[in-house]
Amino acid sequence: MRHPILPVLLCLAVGGFVGCKGGGSMSSEGVEAGRWGDLDGDRVQRFTLRNGNGMEVDLCDYGAMVTSVRVPDRNGISVDVVLGFDSIEEYPQKSQYFGCTVGRVGNRIAGGSFELDGETYSLAVNNGPNHLHGGERGFDKHIWTATQILTSRGAGIRFTRVSPAGEEGYPGTLEAEAIYILTENDELVIEMSATTDAATPCNIVHHTYWNLGGHGSGTVLDETLLIDADRYTPVDATLIPTGELAFVDGTPLDFRAGKSIGSDFGAFPPNGDDPGGFDHNLCLNGEVGTIREVARLSDPTTGIVMTISTDQPGIQFYTGNFLNGMTGKGGAVYEKNGALCLETQAFPDSIHQRGELGWSDVVLKPGTSYGHVMVHRFTTD
Ligand code: BGC
Repeated sequence: MRHPILPVLLCLAVGGFVGCKGGGSMSSEGVEAGRWGDLDGDRVQRFTLRNGNGMEVDLCDYGAMVTSVRVPDRNGISVDVVLGFDSIEEYPQKSQYFGCTVGRVGNRIAGGSFELDGETYSLAVNNGPNHLHGGERGFDKHIWTATQILTSRGAGIRFTRVSPAGEEGYPGTLEAEAIYILTENDELVIEMSATTDAATPCNIVHHTYWNLGGHGSGTVLDETLLIDADRYTPVDATLIPTGELAFVDGTPLDFRAGKSIGSDFGAFPPNGDDPGGFDHNLCLNGEVGTIREVARLSDPTTGIVMTISTDQPGIQFYTGNFLNGMTGKGGAVYEKNGALCLETQAFPDSIHQRGELGWSDVVLKPGTSYGHVMVHRFTTD
């Protein structure tokens, strides 16, 4: 049974909070929450964050995901720059990790197994010969517990879930959190964190498909992208890094000066089952653990600009190569390369490169905590 989002503003009992006037006014700031539908008999909720500048973000507790980001373009017209679906049922059906929180380990683990403290752990092999995005039922396919929060930066939602020891083959009970905050500075802040009771790899990743021309507006090949990365991780035919940290100089992956995504697109043509396009991890400049601006994306038609700041070592630049003309929100068609993902992360397959120079340790131990910050800032030019 499906229900439209309830026009109920769930007001936070916090002084100074704006937008709790009731009536679901679309212009007021704050948080709106309601039931979206049911999945396997479980209730799924949707939330809308609004700020005072006309920016709106829709979130959902299934997959702790983003389903829409509406931002004013250079003419003040609201544009939804995120791919997604009208009904919650379509997310598991059309599963390509739309908007979700991916875990316990985002990206690939070679051969679907790893050794830790003398034990060998076997994971689902769900992407060619490898493990991808946490397995058959990763964090993206669970309903998280949602709480509305009010921080000094703005209103938001905190999603939490406990991933039991053994889930998808991973050791340790992992307590995970994904917080989304919309600021008055037009930032969508995402903070992912986790703790564990036994050593486990952990690399939680956010997977929104962006098209700053508007979802369903065609390919992103005319968008301009800058990525502040001197190096990337070359991969084998199954997208597992070779271990080398190669310089981008003279390669199509040199985005340091900013360039149109389409300009070097021909360097990655389709080949058999490989749809071609960008699907690469770049090694971000700057100090890991320090939040710094690492990417800037802009659309020539809407003038919408999105910058990403993060504390992570890498970013997966993926041009929606497996989008296949599926129908999205409002009947929009999501053609191949109709969006891109900019997934900040630890480098793919880091668990097999432990101790190597330039690779961060993705093993989370009891008594320590995993943290990952992403700030998406929207402006126009
Ligand atoms: C990966 C792609 C994969 C896609 C699935 C991306 O993060 O890099 O290889 O096909 O997720 O949606």
